[in-house]
Amino acid sequence: MAEKPKIGWALIGYGGMGSWHVDNVRKQIPDIEFLGVYDIKEERQQRAREKGIHAYESREALLSDPRVQLVTIATTNEVHEEIAIDAMRHGKNVISEKPVTLSPESLERMIAVAEETGMLFTVHQNRRWDWDYLCAKKIIDDNTMGHVFQIESRVHGSRGIPGDWRGIKKYGGGMVYDWGVHLFDQMLTLMGDRKLLSVYAQLTHVTVGEVDDGFRAIFKFEDDYSWLVEVLTNNFYSLPRWYLCGMNGSAVIKDWDCRGSITMVEDWENKDALPIQAGAGLTKTMAPRGTDSIKEFPLPSDTKAWNDVVKSWSRFYENVVATIRGEETQIVTWDQQRRLVKLIKAVLDSGESGEVIRFE
Ligand SMILES: NC(=O)c1ccc[n+]([C@@H]2O[C@H](COP(=O)([O-])OP(=O)(O)OC[C@H]3O[C@@H](n4cnc5c(N)ncnc54)[C@H](O)[C@@H]3O)[C@@H](O)[C@H]2O)c1
Repeated sequence: MAEKPKIGWALIGYGGMGSWHVDNVRKQIPDIEFLGVYDIKEERQQRAREKGIHAYESREALLSDPRVQLVTIATTNEVHEEIAIDAMRHGKNVISEKPVTLSPESLERMIAVAEETGMLFTVHQNRRWDWDYLCAKKIIDDNTMGHVFQIESRVHGSRGIPGDWRGIKKYGGGMVYDWGVHLFDQMLTLMGDRKLLSVYAQLTHVTVGEVDDGFRAIFKFEDDYSWLVEVLTNNFYSLPRWYLCGMNGSAVIKDWDCRGSITMVEDWENKDALPIQAGAGLTKTMAPRGTDSIKEFPLPSDTKAWNDVVKSWSRFYENVVATIRGEETQIVTWDQQRRLVKLIKAVLDSGESGEVIRFE
């Protein structure tokens, strides 16, 4: 069979994440031909040249190159809209880094140009391929512990917000736009078609005042699913990445490498306990169970079978290539992004007003 022509690809915004795209796409996506980068900062252009990468002299030069069919935008957040629209108007397919943009109105402008030009327009929601997320999803989807009524999804750091544009509002800084968008996308993807009923959020400003440097948000979905999503940048004990409470057990996924376990009840009826001394009082309700009625199991990620099932991140770019060739439809869709951007706005609004937002 004749080989399909490669998709010509270039990148705008050759910073930290831009370098990651270049390194990983070149390594893992043979159907893409990498043509070069453009960054507004000369030092980043120079860095590209030092690495043997073609640095286009301007954005216009990159977008006017007829070999370029696909552009990834990995700039700061506030210019994603402008660059994506410019690229689509030049006849380029576009991947925007997350967050796709900073408001629902801005997203609608981007989608309108995608519709008008017929170009592919999608967003790099790479954390849909995180192991820890896929592990939590499998436990919930497989009903391993019965109905999971409470889900806690956290990332914790202790270095404050990075001292770059992430601390500045006009660039789209803040942890809601940074990590929040990943964790919310995972949550919405995992919950599928279930309605998100309400949103309540508290924003933190420990190390920086202008934007949130962390948040905790509570989401209620229909079918009795409650989520706590938390991002903190100023705490020195990292709580587990995931904590799941099901009818018949609890699961802890400690980190991105999926360390953790599931503990399930073996004998529900055997729930009587002798009261124990607890602090300055007595409790029977909180007395820990013995091994006679509970059993610990490994996480699904511990098994070989599950390892084989986990799809790697490269699936994102493979899908983009296949969509451009008309062989698949895009995995990260406009409607998912509409819901996500609306959710981010609800989190920020609730964080500012202190009110619960009725969502869907
Ligand atoms: N998906 C992920 O896992 C992930 C991880 C980190 C960052 N990101 C996203 O990637 C984007 C970049 O983040 P980063 O950490 O690499 O930041 P960064 O500051 O390291 O890089 C941004 C680069 O964009 C360049 N830039 C800014 N405006 C530009 C313009 N108009 N034209 C061309 N270049 C321009 C800057 O000079 C800089 O080199 C952000 O949207 C961020 O949210 C995604």
